[in-house]
Amino acid sequence: MDFFFEIHKDLPREGPGDSESTRRAFRKLSALPEEPVILNVGSGPGAQTLDLAEISDGVIYAVDTHQPFLDRLQEKVIASGMDKRIHVLHQSMKELQFPPASFDLIWSEGAIYIMGFEAGLRAWKPLLKPGGYIAITELTWLKPDPPAEVKEFWNEGYPSMKSMEENLEIIHACDYYLIDYFVLPNSSWTDDYYQPMQARISMLREQYQSEPDRLQQLDFELEEINIFNKYHEWYGYVFYIMQTK
Ligand SMILES: C[S@@+](CC[C@H](N)C(=O)[O-])C[C@H]1O[C@@H](n2cnc3c(N)ncnc32)[C@H](O)[C@@H]1O
Repeated sequence: MDFFFEIHKDLPREGPGDSESTRRAFRKLSALPEEPVILNVGSGPGAQTLDLAEISDGVIYAVDTHQPFLDRLQEKVIASGMDKRIHVLHQSMKELQFPPASFDLIWSEGAIYIMGFEAGLRAWKPLLKPGGYIAITELTWLKPDPPAEVKEFWNEGYPSMKSMEENLEIIHACDYYLIDYFVLPNSSWTDDYYQPMQARISMLREQYQSEPDRLQQLDFELEEINIFNKYHEWYGYVFYIMQTK
């Protein structure tokens, strides 16, 4: 696990995403109050936390369980001068420590998979005020019948990955209104995530050239990037934007 974090340390993002997609999703929230209270679940190093603070006049609570990510985010918050509006907290998404109906908006990019899409949508709902919004990105099959190689890779990595249609059914079953959904562009995988990660992998390969276990882990990370390059039209991150009834 430590070596995983050495590979991922100090990347701009810890998963696919980009500021324009964050803004595009945020623009869909037409009835948000002027100063919304926002919970950012699984913030990681917080690229979207800072975007949310820039595009809203709200107060943001960013939670994650990996302290080095939180420390890095806290440094960025202080540097941005937005420390009165952004609160960085060590909390698990599985046991969020807030009273019911605390938030106008729950935002989570690339993290709900840790609980499962449906489990997260159900567990976090009581924290929303009536009419509150939830905006989530989730790894999703974009087309049926993917080739065996990509299917096997993700059956291993994320066996409960669903199609868009299945996720829309879950949203309906969890009793949210669907506001909108869209697929993140390929550049949101590459620019701030896979490209810096690939550079890190090359550097670590040099550093650990005589350590087979580490080289094997680097190969595994690289395989994910190779699978994406070959098969990205079959799967992607989808932004799902919902509102409580
Ligand atoms: C794929 S990363 C996405 C991070 C961030 N949203 C981004 O886009 O850069 C998933 C994040 O979930 C965090 N995480 C893992 N388990 C968690 C838990 N139980 N509660 C809260 N966050 C968790 C990880 O530390 C990591 O920062």
